[in-house]
Amino acid sequence: MKTDKTLHVVSFSGSLRRASYNTALLRVAAALAPSDMTLEILDLAPLPMFNEDIEKPFPDAVAAFRARLAQADAVLIATPEYNSSVSGALKNALDWASRAPEPPLKEKPVAILGASTGNFGTARVQLHLRQILTHLGALPLGKPEVLIARAEQAFDADGNLVDAAARGFLQDLLNALARWVRRVQQD
Ligand SMILES: Cc1cc2nc3c(=O)[nH]c(=O)nc-3n(C[C@H](O)[C@H](O)[C@H](O)COP(=O)(O)O)c2cc1C
Repeated sequence: MKTDKTLHVVSFSGSLRRASYNTALLRVAAALAPSDMTLEILDLAPLPMFNEDIEKPFPDAVAAFRARLAQADAVLIATPEYNSSVSGALKNALDWASRAPEPPLKEKPVAILGASTGNFGTARVQLHLRQILTHLGALPLGKPEVLIARAEQAFDADGNLVDAAARGFLQDLLNALARWVRRVQQD
């Protein structure tokens, strides 16, 4: 379905480090987004560690994070691979997002991508992340998969994604996400 509505995608990276390849990936995604999509990048650093003792009411940073997710047409997650799984920062954010009332990722279209310095380009963590998202009732996009292996070769020193094939995969992912959102919103 073709509509004139601009889609707003909220994104975040599971890496908190300044020179993160995954955060760089989101900046590239914002630049490559199709004309009918805007992409906002959130920082997970202000979120406190999840603790049931402090969740009522949600801390301000958590309430703001959940509100941004709730208002988004879709969510894009760039995940590093830490010991074959998600980073603590990413799991923490997903745990905060999972809590009632009105968990904001429920029935939300979500696309994932990732960059690692290893040879498998976040293949293992992406499967694990899909499992978590399914538990949350999110609607993860299946294909295409964007797995950037040996990230130090795919990016230049300024965080530009210089691997042309990777840029193409990223563009395909964003276009597929736009189609996925419109399909879900048609229901
Ligand atoms: C605690 C830790 C565990 C890691 N485990 C993996 C791993 O299982 N697989 C992998 O490919 N890279 C692993 N790496 C290397 C990361 O891919 C690399 O640090 C990458 O740059 C992290 O993403 P970022 O650039 O967005 O911070 C690990 C790094 C850290 C700090």
